[in-house]
Formats: sequence, structure tokens, C-alpha cells
Amino acid sequence: MNPFELKPQKADKCFTSWNKVFLKPYNKNEVDPYTRLRVILMSGTEFESVRYSHAFNRHCSNNDVRRRLAYMRRGEQIQQKRVAGLKPADESILEHTIGYEQLAVDLTANLAVSEKNSYVKKQLDFALLEDFDHLYRYADLMELEKGGDPARLVGDYTEIMPGRPTVAEYRHPFDDVNFYLNNYLNDTKTKLNVNIITAAEQQTMNFYMNVANLYTTPMGRKLFNEIAMIEEQHVTGYGGLKDPCASWWEGLLMNEYTECYLYYSCYMDEKDERIKQIWEMHFNEEVAHLHEAADLLKTYEGKVWQQCFPDGGEFPELLKFRSQKDYVREALKSVRLTGVEEGWELLDSVPDTFRYFAYNRKINGDINTVGTHAVIEKAIKEFGNDWRLQDKEHPIKCLADRKHDNVDVGRVKGK
Ligand SMILES: [Fe+2]
Ligand SMILES: [Fe+2]
Ligand SMILES: [Fe+2]
Repeated sequence: MNPFELKPQKADKCFTSWNKVFLKPYNKNEVDPYTRLRVILMSGTEFESVRYSHAFNRHCSNNDVRRRLAYMRRGEQIQQKRVAGLKPADESILEHTIGYEQLAVDLTANLAVSEKNSYVKKQLDFALLEDFDHLYRYADLMELEKGGDPARLVGDYTEIMPGRPTVAEYRHPFDDVNFYLNNYLNDTKTKLNVNIITAAEQQTMNFYMNVANLYTTPMGRKLFNEIAMIEEQHVTGYGGLKDPCASWWEGLLMNEYTECYLYYSCYMDEKDERIKQIWEMHFNEEVAHLHEAADLLKTYEGKVWQQCFPDGGEFPELLKFRSQKDYVREALKSVRLTGVEEGWELLDSVPDTFRYFAYNRKINGDINTVGTHAVIEKAIKEFGNDWRLQDKEHPIKCLADRKHDNVDVGRVKGK
């Protein structure tokens, strides 16, 4: 499929009455977990498009351009509402959160298996273990608060057990900044992967920041606030991979291409017939956006889209959500890595004076008061064991103990 070769529909086709915007939400008891994930993913993608377009608007002095951006952006807003409205009102904040972290795990793993750039793959594998741990902490909160059934929410797709303990993830801000990619040296799939995961992580961060003070229990409020800081680190890491030398026009074209690619992937992967039609409709709208972005690039920067897509614009391998339990188990072997400048190293190999240790101590303070640790200790006290969803024993021995929450792995040398 090559979206540049399709004839775009009329741009105003996306402007439609409210009854075509507010659609029936999915049934939370019947929805496939991966359909829930696609809804979250596409919400995040739309938010990023809108955010980018507003930033562009504020950096542009030409009102003809700003009008064309406003026109496209209005379309994105309608799509944003249609997608976000698929989440039903009876799906709680915490149930939705399990979806966010399952997305973070399974999206990251599915992107990582297809990633050819070894540096990008390292960043994906590194953050994967952190989101994997968040899923476990939220699942235990859910069990404690009797707020739903994490096992039913994730289905058979994803295991739930400790990753790199969240308390170990607080790194000095200097160590989340990555090298950026050169767009001309990387293929379309790598650029797509980076664009997709940055938007998804940003959406997760914003969601936690928005719900933290709406959440009713003190323990839950702690978890959302604490974990949001890790998502900020992830957004810094992933966002830093994007080529900062790309122009505003090129960035716009890439965002529209990403939306085309994702809606088409969702369309091909979706089993719910009704929702599949929404993905198809949005794909057709995005093709119109893409052609508009290509025209803007040509008119105002004198570049043709082929300069940004030297491989011709054909979609690379589509994104398919597939269970990646074995991949995650393999990745867990790197649980003791930490960020060091633009790279990652085993914690044991960094000097004792490295800034990580002082920073991490400062953020955590008394470890017993940290929410992501306390929630597991509370679960152990109440249930006798922590709550997990494992097919077999945890691959890392010291994380297999279900009667003691390990706060040292990846945080204390020699552990
Ligand atoms: Fe869109
Ligand atoms: Fe994350
Ligand atoms: Fe778009």
C-alpha cells in the first residue's frame, strides 16, 4: 500500500455532524484487549498531530499556511473525539490504565522485534522493562482496591510480573537524552517506530498527569504521580531520537504519513467489524491530510515528498499486535541496565560517584514511603503473595520472590 499513490478524497469530507462523531463505545466486557490498545494508540497519535500542528502555527508567520493548518487540525480534532469516545463511561481510570501499560509493553515489544537500527532497539528494550514493571504495580493496586480484574483486561496476551523496579528507574535527567537520528540514514520503518512510540509515551504521560489528582485513593494518587515521572523520562528519550534537523513541513508530512500507516495497520488487524470501519474512514481522511502536507512542503519549501521518502512511500511491514511474552522474558535479562549519558550500561560497571545514585536517593527519599513499593508490600500483607499473572517462574531469580518486593535490582550495585 502506498498512500501517496491513492487519489485523496475531498478535504471537507471529514466535517460532519455530531451524530457521526459520538459513536457507541465498545463493551468493556466483550472488547478484545488489543482493540482497547488500538483505541489508546490512535488517541495518542491524534493528540500528537494536534500538538504538533499548534506548535507549527505558533512558529509560522504566514496566515495562508496557518489557515491550511487550522483546516487540517479541525479534522484531526473530530477524529480525536471519535476515537476517544469509543472508551465506555463504565471503564474506570484504573482499568483504562491497565490498557495504557499493556499498550506500552506490547507496542514497544512489537516495534522492537521489527527494528533494524540497533540504537533505537536498545532504547525500546530499555524502556520496555520499565513499563512492564508499571503494569505489575497498577495491577496490584487494582487487586487491592477490588477495582477490576487485571487478568481479564490483558487477556492471554501479556504476563504481569516485576520488571526493572520502578524505584530504580529514577535517573538523572542528563541520562535520558539520546543521540538523534539522521533521517537520511534511516529507513521509513525506523522513523515510523520512533514517531509512533514517542506519541504513545507522551499520551501515557499526559493521561497520568491528568488523572493523578482525580483519583480518589492516596495510594493511587501516588502511583500515577510517581509513574508519570518515568513516562516523562521515556518521552525525553524517545523524542530525542527524532531528527531535529527536519523542517516543520517535513515533520508535518511525517506525522500524516504515520497516521496513514497506523490507521491502515489498525484496519488490517482489527476484528471488530464496526471499529474496523472507523479505522478505514480515518485512513481515507489521513490520505487527504498527507497529500495536503506534501503540497505544503512543495509550495513553501520547494521540496517533493520523495525527498523525505526515498524508498518510494510504500508502507513497510504493518504494525500487528501480537503477544510478545517470550520477547519480554528475554529482554528481562537486561534488567540491571541504567542510562549513562547517551547509552546504557550495567549498574555494576558505573562508578560509585556516578550522578544516578545521589539523584535516585533524593527522589525516593525513604523507600518505604514510595507508592510503587508500598503497594506491593500491602498486597503481600493482604494476600500472602503479590499479585501476578505468570505462565511460569520469573526469568530473573531475585524477582521471583513473591513475598518480598525487590527494590535493589538495577538500583543498588551488586544486587
Ligand atoms: Fe488524524
Ligand atoms: Fe513508558
Ligand atoms: Fe492527520
